[in-house]
Amino acid sequence: MIYDLIIIGGGPAGYNAAEKAASNGMQTLLIEAKAVGGVCLNEGCIPTKTLLYAAKLLDNARTGHKYGIQISGEPTADMEAWIARKNKTVKTLTSGVEFKLKTHGVDVVYASAVIEGETDEGIRIRAAEQHYQGRYVLLSTGSDTFIPPINGLDSVDYWTSREALDAIDLPKQLVIIGGGVIGMEFASLYNSLQVDVHVVEMLPEILGGMDAETAAMLRQTYQKRGITFHLDTKVTQVSPTEVQIEHKGKISHLQADRILLSVGRKANLTGFGLETLGIDTTGKGLPVNDRMQTTHPRVYAAGDVTGYSMLAHTAIREGEVAVNNLCGKEDRMSYAAIPGVVYTNPELAGVGPTEAVLKEAGQIYDVIKLPMAYSGRFVAENEGSNGLCKLLIDPDGYVLACHMMGNPASELIVVAGMAIEQHMHVEAFQKIVFPHPTVGEIFHEGLFM
Ligand code: NAI
Repeated sequence: MIYDLIIIGGGPAGYNAAEKAASNGMQTLLIEAKAVGGVCLNEGCIPTKTLLYAAKLLDNARTGHKYGIQISGEPTADMEAWIARKNKTVKTLTSGVEFKLKTHGVDVVYASAVIEGETDEGIRIRAAEQHYQGRYVLLSTGSDTFIPPINGLDSVDYWTSREALDAIDLPKQLVIIGGGVIGMEFASLYNSLQVDVHVVEMLPEILGGMDAETAAMLRQTYQKRGITFHLDTKVTQVSPTEVQIEHKGKISHLQADRILLSVGRKANLTGFGLETLGIDTTGKGLPVNDRMQTTHPRVYAAGDVTGYSMLAHTAIREGEVAVNNLCGKEDRMSYAAIPGVVYTNPELAGVGPTEAVLKEAGQIYDVIKLPMAYSGRFVAENEGSNGLCKLLIDPDGYVLACHMMGNPASELIVVAGMAIEQHMHVEAFQKIVFPHPTVGEIFHEGLFM
């Protein structure tokens, strides 16, 4: 039998594409080496958010006195229970994916797939000593943690995000190398767990690529809570107990009984026979057109393997675009309104270009900037803290971008994303009615400034 579509990799790009392809009548085979759900469900987005939610409850218990809640004794974390609940959440969701794949009629093989070659009819793939053939192939092999070449790293039992999600015994001093999204989410988690956290970031600010003003606000918030940031700082050497850092030519040492590496991820481009088909890759990923097609007409790619966005929600949409095109439906990938969220407490989120990007491009824009305290609901629920909402508007009055810090930014950012994707004018945006009282009213307030 020749499958219409063989998908290699069962993460968000792969499993969503498989369900969509099968529901559009394509004979679909999904080949996954480990577990469906990929990094996102098994060791990324979902487990992190499960632990971060527990951390938020712990923070709330500690700060409840601000709201008139008295708790006798110090609230503590039962890490075994945290990890058990995290594992249960992952199991529930991966079982749900398995069930959906089955009900959609997707064949699933758990094995490592290797592309063997091609015939006139399609691509030949081997998995678990079996041979399969597909008219089209979707590559969604994802990404893995990038391990930088740091002196001494080989002698250190360091964590990546994977190990950090299973820790029951907490370190006293944690040095996080890389102040990006993963670095900041774990810094937040371990700060709530009262670990002494140091973040070493080689750039002048954390969360490069996101809005610098809100990133600085978030850093200051966590500085007040006890995290130490070492910006503009390089790690020059590590040992099992120490991290040597260099800032403006000056060397110093940080004590560390654990190091967490979070300096980025790299696309998985090897080990599955990609070279067999002579598909072009860059060092960073697998280039695709806006239909998610690689340089080989029968091979599509979606998700982190493209090396482009490295976000689960981008991956899902990219897989959808690939399948729609395979089914003959007009669909093109747009990256204009992909939200980015950092699930710290408070959350930070952005959609559309940052001010730095617009300035670099010489694009003129207006900024509407409002403290989150303009929202009554925000004030009611965030005693003693503030946030910021920024809308960037082009000279013709169209929404270009939004960047915000404050809960629940992860839920609100999609409103701005819709305005950008739909090329909405502020006059149209002003007519949207937000329920009162909600934090989302901040947009309405801002647009009438
Ligand atoms: P990242 O690219 O977000 O951040 C890496 C940081 O490490 C950068 O700020 C970089 O300047 C710094 N860095 C690199 N080498 C360094 C060195 N030798 N010393 C000190 N600093 C160094 O990568 P991250 O945080 O590892 O995340 C990987 C991917 O996973 C990203 O694309 C991210 O968007 C995605 N992700 C998304 C999440 C979300 O949507 N909430 C959550 C977690 C990950």
